[in-house]
Amino acid sequence: MKYRKLAAVAAGIVSLTLFTACGEAGGGGGQTPGSGGGGTITLGFSQVGAESGWRTANTKSIQDSAKAAGIDLKFSDAQQKQENQIRAIRSFIQQKVKVIAFSPVVESGWDTVLKEAKTANIPVILTDRAIDSPDTSLYKTFLGSDFVKEGRKAGEWLTKEFASATGDVNIVELQGTTGSAPANDRKKGFAEAIASTSKFKVVASQTGEFTRAKGKEVMEAFLKSQSKIDVLYAHNDDMALGAIEAIEGAGKKPGTDIKIVSIDAVRDGMQALADGKINYIVECNPLLGPQLMDLVKKVAAGEQVPQRIETEETEFDQAKAKEVLPQRQY
Ligand code: AHR
Repeated sequence: MKYRKLAAVAAGIVSLTLFTACGEAGGGGGQTPGSGGGGTITLGFSQVGAESGWRTANTKSIQDSAKAAGIDLKFSDAQQKQENQIRAIRSFIQQKVKVIAFSPVVESGWDTVLKEAKTANIPVILTDRAIDSPDTSLYKTFLGSDFVKEGRKAGEWLTKEFASATGDVNIVELQGTTGSAPANDRKKGFAEAIASTSKFKVVASQTGEFTRAKGKEVMEAFLKSQSKIDVLYAHNDDMALGAIEAIEGAGKKPGTDIKIVSIDAVRDGMQALADGKINYIVECNPLLGPQLMDLVKKVAAGEQVPQRIETEETEFDQAKAKEVLPQRQY
């Protein structure tokens, strides 16, 4: 039902208006459709939006790497809307780009538009986030993190941190964008890791949409509705940073009165960790640009690539954050 509605909306809009509507940011406008001219590869990339520090770093990495690799990038910002991404992909097909890459805002509802790309013989690369289609022939590869593993690492840290706690440990959870792969998987991985220890209770769990503003708003509501909060698990640093403002606003000490574990390891999050306001961060690496451009070149040349390429990531406590902060790129 939801899918039929989205398809109808997408089909009803003239795709040529796309770049004005969604805000074009990359280079390459006005080149000959197809090859990009003179053998240059044209890459159509549809980005989720600009919701977090992670996303800003990811966009910069993709734009810088395309430039360095001599790839003609047509960049489209979907402003968190699946219908904008579907329109962008249709526009890329119409422009006969050589390769399409995108970071899907949500997991489901992609089959129809990806079948259109396949029919047009345009290879598709998923970056950062996966889709839930069983038809893996719709894309050449998926480059990105294992979000279940990230959630699990956050939960494992918690079990160690609270190993000696005797009473209930009340946890509030700020989820990412509803229906997105990182929100679904980070919730799942964390739940798995704490499942065997009955003292851990997730007393409230709600989306903070991966943004600082929403993280603050939802944490304020949690602080009003919950009589005892021991831990905040935030699916990204931005929501944790918003929540820190809410906790301080309520007269409590983040990192002490309420322990905080989050995911990403962007500069502001790492600073909060170094300052003792966040207790632990699981890294999610946004610097996917160089690997993506290598893959684009390979699939454009018709070479085989692995179906799944997992990003390498680490974890940070306060000491490690202090050590790496001076060299942190983002
Ligand atoms: O898909 C990656 C997630 O999306 C990042 O963890 C989050 O900050 C971003 O918005």
